[in-house]
Amino acid sequence: MPLRVLITAGPTHEPIDRVRYIANRSSGAMGLALAAAARDAGCDVTLLLGPVAGDPPTGITTLPYSSSKDLTSQLDHCFSGCDVLIMAAAVADYRPKTYADGKLPRTTNAMTLELEPVPDLVARCAAGKRPDQRIIGFALEEPQVLRKRATEKLKRKGLDAIVANPLATMGAADIDATLICANGDTLTPGPLPKADFAKWLVGWISGTG
Ligand code: CTP
Repeated sequence: MPLRVLITAGPTHEPIDRVRYIANRSSGAMGLALAAAARDAGCDVTLLLGPVAGDPPTGITTLPYSSSKDLTSQLDHCFSGCDVLIMAAAVADYRPKTYADGKLPRTTNAMTLELEPVPDLVARCAAGKRPDQRIIGFALEEPQVLRKRATEKLKRKGLDAIVANPLATMGAADIDATLICANGDTLTPGPLPKADFAKWLVGWISGTG
Protein backbone atom coordinates (compact mmCIF):
# COMPACT_ATOMS: atom_id res chain seq x y z
CA MET A 1 0.00 0.00 0.00
CA PRO A 2 1.41 3.45 -0.88
CA LEU A 3 2.44 5.77 1.95
CA ARG A 4 -0.43 8.17 2.67
CA VAL A 5 1.04 11.64 2.99
CA LEU A 6 -0.96 14.66 4.16
CA ILE A 7 0.69 18.01 3.37
CA THR A 8 -0.39 21.50 4.39
CA ALA A 9 0.92 24.49 2.45
CA GLY A 10 0.54 28.24 2.24
CA PRO A 11 -0.59 31.04 4.53
CA THR A 12 -3.87 31.45 6.38
CA HIS A 13 -6.19 34.38 5.81
CA GLU A 14 -7.81 35.39 9.09
CA PRO A 15 -10.96 37.37 8.32
CA ILE A 16 -11.68 40.79 9.84
CA ASP A 17 -14.83 41.43 7.81
CA ARG A 18 -16.12 40.29 4.42
CA VAL A 19 -13.41 42.13 2.51
CA ARG A 20 -10.40 42.27 4.85
CA TYR A 21 -8.11 39.74 6.45
CA ILE A 22 -4.78 39.30 8.23
CA ALA A 23 -2.28 37.18 6.30
CA ASN A 24 1.44 36.42 5.99
CA ARG A 25 3.92 36.24 3.13
CA SER A 26 4.08 32.45 2.73
CA SER A 27 4.03 31.48 -0.98
CA GLY A 28 3.31 27.81 -0.31
CA ALA A 29 6.18 26.93 -2.69
CA MET A 30 7.81 24.44 -0.31
CA GLY A 31 4.55 22.59 0.37
CA LEU A 32 3.68 22.48 -3.34
CA ALA A 33 7.14 21.08 -4.12
CA LEU A 34 6.70 18.46 -1.39
CA ALA A 35 3.33 17.43 -2.80
CA ALA A 36 4.84 16.94 -6.28
CA ALA A 37 7.86 15.06 -4.88
CA ALA A 38 5.68 12.76 -2.76
CA ARG A 39 3.45 12.05 -5.76
CA ASP A 40 6.51 11.27 -7.91
CA ALA A 41 7.74 8.88 -5.22
CA GLY A 42 4.47 6.92 -5.50
CA CYS A 43 2.80 8.24 -2.34
CA ASP A 44 -0.93 8.79 -1.99
CA VAL A 45 -0.95 12.57 -1.47
CA THR A 46 -3.57 14.86 0.02
CA LEU A 47 -2.70 18.56 -0.04
CA LEU A 48 -4.47 21.09 2.17
CA LEU A 49 -3.71 24.23 0.21
CA GLY A 50 -4.07 27.77 1.46
CA PRO A 51 -4.60 30.91 -0.62
CA VAL A 52 -1.54 30.89 -2.91
CA ALA A 53 -0.87 31.94 -6.49
CA GLY A 54 0.55 28.63 -7.73
CA ASP A 55 -1.50 25.72 -9.06
CA PRO A 56 -1.47 22.44 -7.15
CA PRO A 57 0.30 19.51 -8.80
CA THR A 58 -1.90 17.15 -10.80
CA GLY A 59 -2.45 13.56 -9.70
CA ILE A 60 -3.10 14.32 -6.02
CA THR A 61 -6.14 15.26 -3.91
CA THR A 62 -6.15 18.99 -3.17
CA LEU A 63 -8.51 20.56 -0.66
CA PRO A 64 -8.38 24.36 -0.45
CA TYR A 65 -8.55 26.26 2.85
CA SER A 66 -8.57 29.94 3.69
CA SER A 67 -8.51 30.53 7.46
CA SER A 68 -6.98 28.65 10.39
CA LYS A 69 -10.55 27.58 11.27
CA ASP A 70 -10.96 25.94 7.83
CA LEU A 71 -7.59 24.24 8.20
CA THR A 72 -8.54 22.95 11.65
CA SER A 73 -11.69 21.28 10.23
CA GLN A 74 -9.74 19.78 7.34
CA LEU A 75 -7.07 18.37 9.64
CA ASP A 76 -9.81 16.93 11.87
CA HIS A 77 -11.24 15.25 8.79
CA CYS A 78 -8.01 14.07 7.09
CA PHE A 79 -5.39 13.43 9.78
CA SER A 80 -6.56 9.97 10.86
CA GLY A 81 -6.29 8.75 7.24
CA CYS A 82 -2.60 9.61 6.82
CA ASP A 83 0.64 7.84 7.70
CA VAL A 84 2.69 11.06 7.60
CA LEU A 85 1.67 14.69 8.11
CA ILE A 86 4.01 17.34 6.72
CA MET A 87 2.90 20.63 8.24
CA ALA A 88 4.41 23.25 5.94
CA ALA A 89 1.50 25.72 6.25
CA ALA A 90 2.29 29.12 7.75
CA VAL A 91 -0.55 29.17 10.25
CA ALA A 92 -1.34 32.54 11.86
CA ASP A 93 -0.38 32.92 15.51
CA TYR A 94 -3.26 35.36 16.13
CA ARG A 95 -6.62 36.03 14.50
CA PRO A 96 -9.33 38.67 14.98
CA LYS A 97 -11.51 37.74 17.93
CA THR A 98 -14.69 38.83 16.19
CA TYR A 99 -15.80 38.78 12.57
CA ALA A 100 -17.87 41.63 11.15
CA ASP A 101 -20.36 40.23 8.65
CA GLY A 102 -20.31 43.06 6.13
CA LYS A 103 -17.76 45.81 5.52
CA LEU A 104 -16.52 47.86 8.44
CA PRO A 105 -16.86 51.54 7.54
CA ARG A 106 -13.94 53.95 7.70
CA THR A 107 -14.20 56.57 10.41
CA THR A 108 -11.84 59.30 11.57
CA ASN A 109 -11.28 57.50 14.90
CA ALA A 110 -8.46 55.16 15.73
CA MET A 111 -9.51 51.52 15.62
CA THR A 112 -8.41 48.64 17.83
CA LEU A 113 -8.56 45.12 16.51
CA GLU A 114 -8.70 42.52 19.27
CA LEU A 115 -6.76 39.36 18.43
CA GLU A 116 -6.97 35.93 19.99
CA PRO A 117 -4.30 33.20 19.79
CA VAL A 118 -4.80 30.53 17.16
CA PRO A 119 -4.56 27.03 18.67
CA ASP A 120 -1.41 25.14 17.75
CA LEU A 121 -2.81 22.87 15.04
CA VAL A 122 0.19 20.58 14.57
CA ALA A 123 0.59 20.13 18.34
CA ARG A 124 -3.09 19.14 18.48
CA CYS A 125 -2.53 16.49 15.79
CA ALA A 126 0.58 15.23 17.59
CA ALA A 127 -1.30 14.95 20.89
CA GLY A 128 -3.87 12.65 19.26
CA LYS A 129 -1.71 10.67 16.84
CA ARG A 130 -1.43 6.90 16.62
CA PRO A 131 2.00 5.32 17.21
CA ASP A 132 2.23 4.43 13.50
CA GLN A 133 1.79 8.05 12.40
CA ARG A 134 4.62 10.53 11.94
CA ILE A 135 4.51 14.32 11.91
CA ILE A 136 7.06 16.69 10.43
CA GLY A 137 6.81 20.39 11.16
CA PHE A 138 8.57 23.47 9.83
CA ALA A 139 10.19 26.31 11.74
CA LEU A 140 11.15 29.63 10.18
CA GLU A 141 13.59 31.60 12.32
CA GLU A 142 16.47 34.08 12.29
CA PRO A 143 19.73 32.16 11.59
CA GLN A 144 21.31 32.92 15.02
CA VAL A 145 18.45 31.25 16.92
CA LEU A 146 17.33 28.76 14.29
CA ARG A 147 18.60 25.45 15.74
CA LYS A 148 17.76 26.31 19.33
CA ARG A 149 14.23 27.54 18.64
CA ALA A 150 13.49 24.76 16.13
CA THR A 151 14.58 22.13 18.67
CA GLU A 152 12.34 23.74 21.30
CA LYS A 153 9.40 23.65 18.86
CA LEU A 154 10.07 20.01 17.95
CA LYS A 155 9.78 19.08 21.64
CA ARG A 156 6.98 21.46 22.61
CA LYS A 157 4.78 20.36 19.70
CA GLY A 158 5.57 16.63 20.06
CA LEU A 159 6.86 16.23 16.48
CA ASP A 160 8.94 13.42 14.99
CA ALA A 161 11.10 15.88 13.06
CA ILE A 162 11.24 19.56 12.19
CA VAL A 163 12.66 21.37 9.17
CA ALA A 164 14.64 24.31 10.55
CA ASN A 165 14.46 27.00 7.93
CA PRO A 166 16.39 30.31 7.95
CA LEU A 167 14.20 33.38 7.38
CA ALA A 168 15.93 33.98 4.00
CA THR A 169 14.04 30.97 2.61
CA MET A 170 10.87 33.02 2.40
CA GLY A 171 10.25 33.96 -1.22
CA ALA A 172 13.59 32.43 -2.31
CA ALA A 173 14.08 29.71 -4.91
CA ASP A 174 16.54 27.76 -2.76
CA ILE A 175 16.38 26.40 0.76
CA ASP A 176 19.28 25.79 3.17
CA ALA A 177 17.48 23.87 5.89
CA THR A 178 18.39 21.38 8.58
CA LEU A 179 16.17 18.46 9.52
CA ILE A 180 16.18 17.97 13.28
CA CYS A 181 14.81 14.62 14.42
CA ALA A 182 13.25 13.67 17.74
CA ASN A 183 16.10 11.18 18.36
CA GLY A 184 18.64 14.02 18.17
CA ASP A 185 19.86 13.37 14.61
CA THR A 186 20.41 16.47 12.48
CA LEU A 187 20.69 16.28 8.70
CA THR A 188 21.69 19.14 6.41
CA PRO A 189 21.52 18.29 2.71
CA GLY A 190 23.07 21.67 1.75
CA PRO A 191 21.54 24.62 -0.09
CA LEU A 192 19.18 23.19 -2.71
CA PRO A 193 16.41 24.37 -5.02
CA LYS A 194 13.09 23.77 -3.20
CA ALA A 195 12.14 20.95 -5.61
CA ASP A 196 15.40 19.09 -4.80
CA PHE A 197 15.02 19.63 -1.08
CA ALA A 198 11.45 18.28 -1.34
CA LYS A 199 12.75 15.18 -3.13
CA TRP A 200 15.41 14.71 -0.45
CA LEU A 201 12.88 15.06 2.39
CA VAL A 202 10.42 12.65 0.77
CA GLY A 203 13.31 10.20 0.32
CA TRP A 204 14.14 10.51 4.01
CA ILE A 205 10.49 9.99 4.99
CA SER A 206 10.13 6.94 2.73
CA GLY A 207 13.36 5.42 4.03
CA THR A 208 12.59 5.82 7.72
CA GLY A 209 9.12 4.26 7.98
N1 CTP B 1 1.80 25.76 13.50
C1 CTP B 1 0.54 25.25 13.77
N2 CTP B 1 -0.40 26.04 14.35
C2 CTP B 1 -0.13 27.32 14.67
C3 CTP B 1 1.16 27.87 14.40
C4 CTP B 1 2.11 27.05 13.82
O1 CTP B 1 0.30 24.08 13.48
N3 CTP B 1 -1.09 28.07 15.21
C5 CTP B 1 2.83 24.86 12.92
C6 CTP B 1 3.39 25.30 11.58
O2 CTP B 1 2.65 24.76 10.50
C7 CTP B 1 4.80 24.72 11.63
C8 CTP B 1 5.15 24.74 13.10
O3 CTP B 1 3.92 24.83 13.81
O4 CTP B 1 4.85 23.38 11.18
C9 CTP B 1 6.04 25.88 13.52
O5 CTP B 1 5.44 27.10 13.14
P1 CTP B 1 6.07 28.48 13.62
O6 CTP B 1 5.20 29.60 13.12
O7 CTP B 1 7.53 28.51 13.29
O8 CTP B 1 5.95 28.31 15.20
P2 CTP B 1 5.01 28.91 16.27
O9 CTP B 1 4.48 27.82 17.12
O10 CTP B 1 3.98 29.81 15.62
O11 CTP B 1 6.00 29.74 17.17
P3 CTP B 1 6.58 31.25 16.98
O12 CTP B 1 5.45 32.10 16.50
O13 CTP B 1 7.08 31.57 18.33
O14 CTP B 1 7.68 31.17 15.96
